[in-house]
Amino acid sequence: MDILKNQIINGDCQEVMRQMPNNCIDLIITDPPYGDDTGYGWNNKKIKNNKNPLVNCQALVECYRVLRKNATLYNFTNWKHYPFLVEFIMKYTNFKIRHVIVWKKHNFGLGWAFRHQYELILVLEKGKPKYNLKNFSDVQTCSHINHDKENHPHQKPVDLIVKMLEHSSKEGDIVLDPFCGSGSVCMACEQTGRRWIGVELDEEWVGVAEARVVRL
Ligand SMILES: C[S@@+](CC[C@H](N)C(=O)[O-])C[C@H]1O[C@@H](n2cnc3c(N)ncnc32)[C@H](O)[C@@H]1O
Repeated sequence: MDILKNQIINGDCQEVMRQMPNNCIDLIITDPPYGDDTGYGWNNKKIKNNKNPLVNCQALVECYRVLRKNATLYNFTNWKHYPFLVEFIMKYTNFKIRHVIVWKKHNFGLGWAFRHQYELILVLEKGKPKYNLKNFSDVQTCSHINHDKENHPHQKPVDLIVKMLEHSSKEGDIVLDPFCGSGSVCMACEQTGRRWIGVELDEEWVGVAEARVVRL
């Protein structure tokens, strides 16, 4: 596999990562399935592996191997999945849990009683990574994405990802997103001069991601 080429690979991220050499990736930013399986919004879209909370955990083992020493992995998650994920990381991986970022959205979402207005981002370290920004808060405020017929129900804001890229990488670095969905991490890399690899299991989202990157 040519890891120097910007590309979206259609496949299972564990299998794809197994073909990558050790320590070849400078930064991982990823947003794995969060673990419930209701239909989402327009057209009752489904997310592959959304019922399988282990998919995130298992991928972290290969992520650790491909990530270079002294580098960071940002992992989006939610409050339901967080305890299970943290226990797995501490017991079964060599990552150090450095911090948790709260992504605070400007508005709350649909629902009742306790309407969602935040998500969590776990910051995992291999070795002792350096950080670039002096003013990077552990609460990041950024609007959520409004969903329509076409977009991914879990699409993440490119601006939020750019902040993580700026904090933990430099131009020319190679960034991996093993669960790339509609390619928001790939777009943020393209905008900021990072090289990138996205992996996505669902062919439909591969097409959407490629179209978004080409449109830039
Ligand atoms: C939460 S979504 C990512 C959304 C993305 N952040 C975006 O902005 O569009 C997770 C994605 O992981 C994909 N996925 C599930 N299991 C996978 C696997 N084993 N390998 C690669 N992708 C997988 C799903 O199809 C889904 O699109």
